[in-house]
Amino acid sequence: MPDSPPLLRLNNLRVDRGVRSKRKTILHGIDLEIEAGEKVGLIGESGSGKTTLARTVLGLITPTSGTVELRGQRIDSLSTSELRAHRRTGSVQYVFQDPLASLDPDIEVGESIAEGLVVRGGLERSDIRARVADVVDSVGLDRAIASRRPAELSGGQRQRVAVARALVLDPSLLLLDEPVSALDSVNRIQILKLLGELGRSRNIAQLFISHDLGAVASLVDRIAVLYEGKIVEVGPTASVVNAPTHPYTALLLGSAPTLSGGRVSRERRRELRLALAGQTAS
Ligand SMILES: Nc1ncnc2c1ncn2[C@@H]1O[C@H](COP(=O)(O)OP(=O)(O)OP(=O)(O)O)[C@@H](O)[C@H]1O
Ligand SMILES: [Mg+2]
Repeated sequence: MPDSPPLLRLNNLRVDRGVRSKRKTILHGIDLEIEAGEKVGLIGESGSGKTTLARTVLGLITPTSGTVELRGQRIDSLSTSELRAHRRTGSVQYVFQDPLASLDPDIEVGESIAEGLVVRGGLERSDIRARVADVVDSVGLDRAIASRRPAELSGGQRQRVAVARALVLDPSLLLLDEPVSALDSVNRIQILKLLGELGRSRNIAQLFISHDLGAVASLVDRIAVLYEGKIVEVGPTASVVNAPTHPYTALLLGSAPTLSGGRVSRERRRELRLALAGQTAS
């Protein structure tokens, strides 16, 4: 019997964006697989293409070439109605850096959390209420929070609501796009702990997106390093962290002020270019 396909498989994925003379290739031939329940870090500086990759996996961006497969099913070339049906299943969910981006300011957060279930249909109101209460519990919020609006919550509470909203549909893959970078350090630790527990208890695979390799290392099984739209290194976390094979990975692991505003400094970039030139010359 053939092996079952991985949960997610990106095959030679290329994405071009922009119009006419401004058009450029953002992702160059990305190959990446994620198994069910696996946690993978996608690391790269600002502008390396992390969000573009996540949006392509969600079906919001159609790749220029290459394929996106979920459990062996192509999802890169669905028609609008097929895509809608696929998204209703909720099998892939996205958590943004800014929870306000996914929450409607005018509706109670309980309703926001329930939205995916309502759209998917087939459940009684009482079942929806019970399911919402269950996810609200599992993200460590008080049930009374359901009747509040996003503006009445703290940043940490909002991000828990965003996670609850993603969980309610029982996803098999969570795309976490810098999910804690807008939070203070206490909330950051709590949300990371929560995501770790949820991944284990519900066997949800996670693609954890960040520019901070060091911060993600303790959270994931494998790390993929994205540099200028290419995956330059991928492997088990311990080998990537302890024995990086690409100069860019080494640079991201280097001492503190490597990144400023999420970007590699000009000086470090020059060093990197020299190192890469040396690598191709030898
Ligand atoms: N719609 C678009 N049209 C043209 N270029 C785009 C578009 N969206 C993104 N880009 C470009 O693609 C590149 C990658 O952007 P992306 O948002 O994926 O980076 P990122 O790694 O998520 O960065 P950050 O860490 O800042 O969130 C950037 O150079 C960006 O300017
Ligand atoms: Mg981004």
